[in-house]
Amino acid sequence: LLALNLRVDGAPFPPPQFRLCQSADRCCPPVSQKPPVPFQFQTGLPWRTRIAAQFADAKYIAKYQRAYQLMKALPNSDPRSLYAQARMHCAYCGAAFYYPRSDYSLEIHDGWFFFPWHRMFLYFHERILASLIGDPTFALPFWNWDNQSQGATQGNVMPRYYSERRWSNKSNPLYDPNRNRCALPPHLIDLNSGGGCSGMPDDYLRTENNRLMYNQMVSGPTTPSLFFGSTYRFGWSGGMGGGTLEGAPHGTVHIFTGNPYSRNPYDDMGNLNVAALDPLFYAHHANIDRLWEVWKGMGGRHKDISDPDYLKSQFVFYDENKRLVSVSVGQVLNAGNLRYGYQKVPNPWMNPKA
Ligand code: C2O
Repeated sequence: LLALNLRVDGAPFPPPQFRLCQSADRCCPPVSQKPPVPFQFQTGLPWRTRIAAQFADAKYIAKYQRAYQLMKALPNSDPRSLYAQARMHCAYCGAAFYYPRSDYSLEIHDGWFFFPWHRMFLYFHERILASLIGDPTFALPFWNWDNQSQGATQGNVMPRYYSERRWSNKSNPLYDPNRNRCALPPHLIDLNSGGGCSGMPDDYLRTENNRLMYNQMVSGPTTPSLFFGSTYRFGWSGGMGGGTLEGAPHGTVHIFTGNPYSRNPYDDMGNLNVAALDPLFYAHHANIDRLWEVWKGMGGRHKDISDPDYLKSQFVFYDENKRLVSVSVGQVLNAGNLRYGYQKVPNPWMNPKA
């Protein structure tokens, strides 16, 4: 009995229990009647290639829009709905998940779970979209905002199939009215943004964006802990500091995309409790996820963290069949095992003179 009262100080995170969720933002996910099933690799899944958003063709856009149309049409109480998924993201970052043996609630941002947790979240999100349209080959695109090239290959502008209210004579499910007007095409993205409009000329933005990418991807994160962020074990207080990418460009793209004049300034993308309501969230995070792969591809000390508390920590999600699944960090470090990869694009910021 004494053991039940013991506080844990340093261990892998056990899966959070949704019935212990408490949230002022009302982001607690539906409680499952059944315990979570352990994640199994779906070895029979077709290989999926996530393409750069600027290369999407009409056929892909139609499929992509159809998938979000169906997801948005699900009732909020359905854990597969966009609403429920946005709430799940909020719960994991909103001081909502409490544990019986820890004094602290869970925070998956600003620390070493940032990359693997969002990879899991996107994995299930993508499986749900694919199942809604009945196409197991469906993959999310990535918003290639780090690509400052000009012309048809440029990635640092929001593609119009997100920003148009209507598309092919129908209302566009990828459209979100709560966005910053300077984040809409043809404006270039500002990776150093503090929100709103900077008014800086395009050449300046390109140079500064490349400089930021070089700092955050090449010169800054020379060790795993610099890239992934603070060590965070069960029983510890979270949010102690993210890796180089988490603040900028990750956070800056969020705040840049959100509408500074919305009732709650910077909704949707600029506030973590509602960010995942914007379909762009998932394309944004696909790029973050890709940059994790790019960083590891640099070799040398660019390796995943191998601490057992990290590898064995578990998080839970609803899958495309509304089943609760528990996944460990160690299961998602290799994207290939999840049967997806990224279209190869140039990363010109790697060259400091670019
Ligand atoms: Cu969980 Cu981009 O935030």
